[in-house]
Amino acid sequence: MAKHTVTLIPGDGIGIETTAAMQRVVEALGADIEWETAEAGAHMVESCGTPLPDSTIEAVRRNKVAIKGPVTTPVGTGFRSVNVALRQSLNLNVCLRPVEAMQGAGGRYTDVDIVIVRENSEDLYAGIEFEEGSESAKRLIQFCADEGAGTIRPDSGISIKPISITATQNIVRYAFEYALKHGRKKVTAVHKANIMKYSDGLFLRVAREVAKEYEGRVEFDDNIVDAFCMNLVIDPSRFDVIVFPNLYGDIASDLSAGLVGGLGIAPGANIGPEYAVFEAVHGSAPDIAGKNLCNPTAEILSAAMMLDHLGELELAAKLREAVRRVYAEGEVLTQDIRKATGSDKPAATCTEFTDELIRVLNQL
Ligand code: NAI
Repeated sequence: MAKHTVTLIPGDGIGIETTAAMQRVVEALGADIEWETAEAGAHMVESCGTPLPDSTIEAVRRNKVAIKGPVTTPVGTGFRSVNVALRQSLNLNVCLRPVEAMQGAGGRYTDVDIVIVRENSEDLYAGIEFEEGSESAKRLIQFCADEGAGTIRPDSGISIKPISITATQNIVRYAFEYALKHGRKKVTAVHKANIMKYSDGLFLRVAREVAKEYEGRVEFDDNIVDAFCMNLVIDPSRFDVIVFPNLYGDIASDLSAGLVGGLGIAPGANIGPEYAVFEAVHGSAPDIAGKNLCNPTAEILSAAMMLDHLGELELAAKLREAVRRVYAEGEVLTQDIRKATGSDKPAATCTEFTDELIRVLNQL
């Protein structure tokens, strides 16, 4: 019997290609993993009536660890995001996204080494929404007027932004514990407490309270989200572990990925008390899906995070080293990295890149 059984959710779009590449690389690494494939994505709606069948959630519950490819969420329809549903139903309350500069990846900075800790369960992602013109929206608008809370235009759609003490304590404590465990010096909390006093204000207040528990061991500071974006771009080296409410963490993830070479190399994990689902930061990239053009590095580095989580630290380190070498050599890299580096060398396909990575792995 394999040492670990992992649920593999290929997703759709480039997820089909990136997860296949990841699987080949992890197998070449010699990790003792049995994959149990489960489906999610737009292609499941016809056969199952939902993009996220219960059997897929069950498969993650059974194996406790999953790795997934991205899933397309059509914008502005009633179709709920598979990712949000998965995070909520499995209580994956932490989104962890390390961002590190890598030689040869075309990043604008060489000194980025930050860890994004994003709250994953609430904020504007809670999915509590009221459609414009609906009876519920009308009642809510009336309620706000009756309470003297403010005037909402009658033709508004409304999304609710809850931020709780419970979830904030959890996420901030996770950030501090992560900092302690990984020898990091500072945690920065990002918010817009000056405008949203009862949601972001609460986030900041609770973050400050939790920070006191770690005084003398891990530094703490905070940044208003707009200033944070500017500070990050001017000097990313001033940040270490950064903790965010859900939406700002989402935006900051792509911004940070852009600093180090793009979405093609940005890995991530969704972690809860019982289950963990590893996935790249990027989406399904419909513009390049099915063309063998995508960069599987982000999914492969997500697998390295998964191996760490499974206690396979040496394999994870070996995998990261092989990725670093392929980028440093710079001979076989995908088109996104060629663009980011401004190189006129020919771009490799996803398959060619994966072959090269396996070749380098076999040399280590
Ligand atoms: P995206 O991340 O899919 O693409 C943004 C740009 O980055 C595109 O130009 C794409 O070609 C490029 N790109 C992304 N990943 C790449 C890779 N591995 N290699 C090379 N180039 C890459 O973001 P977009 O277009 O906003 O979203 C597309 C769909 O993905 C949407 O339906 C969205 O909801 C979904 N999505 C799913 C996520 C998930 O399942 N975790 C996360 C983010 C978006």
